[in-house]
Amino acid sequence: MTTNTLFIANWKMNKPFSQAAEFCKNHHASMISLSRQKNVSIAIAPDFIVLDHLAQSFASSAVHIGAQNCSTHQKGAYTGQVSAQSISDAGADFCIVGHSEIRAAYHQSNEDVAQAMRNVIHANMFPVVCIGQTEREQSHNQTFALLESQIMALITALKGSDAHPITLAYEPVWAIGTGHIPTPSDISDIFMYSKKLWDRYTKVPLRLIYGGSVNSTTIKQFKGIPLLEGFLVGSGSLEFQEFEKIVHLYMQ
Ligand code: PGA
Repeated sequence: MTTNTLFIANWKMNKPFSQAAEFCKNHHASMISLSRQKNVSIAIAPDFIVLDHLAQSFASSAVHIGAQNCSTHQKGAYTGQVSAQSISDAGADFCIVGHSEIRAAYHQSNEDVAQAMRNVIHANMFPVVCIGQTEREQSHNQTFALLESQIMALITALKGSDAHPITLAYEPVWAIGTGHIPTPSDISDIFMYSKKLWDRYTKVPLRLIYGGSVNSTTIKQFKGIPLLEGFLVGSGSLEFQEFEKIVHLYMQ
């Protein structure tokens, strides 16, 4: 597993095809040079329609292109859904699963998310699995119990599978799009807990990243957090200059 710091741009539904193609045209070379920076890996998750275009444009570069979600099913009569295999065939090499916006919108259980993760692995991509607690769960002291059940469902689903590295994105739901971030010591406690739990049950390599209000103002506060190996960046990734600034400020 690489020790590079991974910066994933999660564009969500913010860039329709025309804008995504424009972004690609304007920032193609700069995105590639960002991805060549020492100890950095760059990834972009556009919407499904944009995926193929981006995967082709960045095909011969180190920039990873991936989807924001995939179906919990492998194939079949599931109108409107997109399979992990189709995403992989379009040239993606990773897929985010279990984002809190998807968990909420599609009422996904931890087992559904684990199944989607298996589909991603089966389609030869690397999964980025999101976990995290809501404000309510946190105020009821349920954070660790909740994270345990989210993580244990993944560990159970990985039993007997090859050692495909898993990227776990810790995203407290209350930090997404709000400008509020957890304290470094809270993130650190959660990472230690997650890593310990993971290593107790599986030898599958784990990469821990953080997401939720990562931008050029907050990024410095994440420096020095043990076990932190990257970021899932939403609104901070929409403008190239801001995304580049986040990478530079963290890496300098
Ligand atoms: P945000 O989103 O950076 O806009 O808070 C992060 C995410 O939801 O992945």
